[in-house]
Amino acid sequence: MALRDLTDVVAFLRACGRLAEVDGPVSVRHEVAALLHMASREHRAVWVGRTDRGPLSMVGNVLCHDEVLAQALGVPPEQAGRAFVERCTGRVRPRVAADGPVLERPLEAGEIGEFLPVLTHYEGDSGAFLTTAVVSALDPRTGTVARGVHRMEQRGPDRFGVALLNPPLSEVYAEAKAAGRPLPAAVTLGHEPLTFLAAALKGRAGEDKMAAAGALRGEPVDLVSAPHTGIPVPAEAEILLEGVIDPSDERPDGPFGEISGYHVSFSATPTFVVRSARCRQTPLYHALLPTGWEADRLLGMVAEASVQALAGAVPVEVTAVRATPFSYGASVVVRLAPATPDRIRAFLETLLRETRVKVVVAVAEDVDLEDPWDVEWSVVSRSQPDRDWVILPGLQGQPIDPSAHEHAVTAKAGVDATGYQRVPGRRARVPRAALERTRAFLTRRER
Ligand SMILES: Cc1cc2nc3c(=O)[nH]c(=O)nc-3n(C[C@H](O)[C@H](O)[C@H](O)COP(=O)(O)O)c2cc1C
Repeated sequence: MALRDLTDVVAFLRACGRLAEVDGPVSVRHEVAALLHMASREHRAVWVGRTDRGPLSMVGNVLCHDEVLAQALGVPPEQAGRAFVERCTGRVRPRVAADGPVLERPLEAGEIGEFLPVLTHYEGDSGAFLTTAVVSALDPRTGTVARGVHRMEQRGPDRFGVALLNPPLSEVYAEAKAAGRPLPAAVTLGHEPLTFLAAALKGRAGEDKMAAAGALRGEPVDLVSAPHTGIPVPAEAEILLEGVIDPSDERPDGPFGEISGYHVSFSATPTFVVRSARCRQTPLYHALLPTGWEADRLLGMVAEASVQALAGAVPVEVTAVRATPFSYGASVVVRLAPATPDRIRAFLETLLRETRVKVVVAVAEDVDLEDPWDVEWSVVSRSQPDRDWVILPGLQGQPIDPSAHEHAVTAKAGVDATGYQRVPGRRARVPRAALERTRAFLTRRER
């Protein structure tokens, strides 16, 4: 089953028993968030038939398990991590389509905030936020479309604050603001997971991130020209909002419960004013709880892709990389082929200069990255802190790290827990063949 759009994803989640279905109505204020929170722990997605805001259905926790990622990539689950990082370096240019499902139905732009089931997630949040918005704007520096996933605070029936913290859109907006002109922008909601993920990946200058989405999907993304602004947007999205990001209307933003698990506020973010809106005939809203598995996994994959990209530039061989769950991509474990301690140290230092990464642990090839106890065993058994750990102060970190200093400056730490050339001897292992032969006995006993 190919996952071309969000409806396909719902069908897949249902077929593999990972979808909790709730007819509703459920309140957009805290109640949907509560459902997402509980289901996230069980690696399940949630479909809500209707909310107290109206009849629009929604699905949340879409990337609740790597099974979904594997299905989207079209590979077996055990190959999903590898396939993802390998395909991140590829590019497949998007196709321009004359029409697309996202343009099917015109909506009343002035009341879009009432139509959408925008969620309030946490106690202490300033209000309701769009958390799955892909913002697109033309980048005059390169002539391409700049895109990113950006949270949007509801500020009225037709307006949303937009947190443009990261490039490329932070830079495109800064130029528009300096020139004192509003920035035409298109916001799409409701994408299949790889298109959504690609919008959050680090972009290459002068290149549309949808080319990365095409490489992940193994086929081009269809783009349609948004009717009001002319900005090319994913044709298979569920909802399209068009308008301007207005630099003359910057306001305090938040508090907003962030992916890092803390509330974050900004002194001023600009306001996106909706001038035109379209959607599919029966659109599906994509809900995403910032502290749920899906948001963390997305940032984790963004970090995994960045680490893989850096690996090409250093003389060590990275055989696997895994962001530690619930570290929002700030903590990564890398598995290395044998290398000298000096090279491993140089590699750790290179990784720590990547904004997203705060803690990195390098482990040897016999370690299971999915097993946190195996990683921890490596740290205590194969490293000496005074020799094999590196701490670098004063580096650029993630703006959502609640412990960071001003301007997201942070210290970072790397651990060489490979033991290569340092820890002699042989690890005690029960032979794999014996494990395979005897596993069936144990299963029978347990029953
Ligand atoms: C779920 C999710 C939410 C995000 N929210 C924001 C946001 O509110 N503001 C922002 O600037 N970036 C946000 N990002 C990050 C950007 O979309 C994107 O990762 C970044 O622009 C990548 O480029 P960079 O690595 O060059 O910064 C979010 C990413 C994800 C996965």
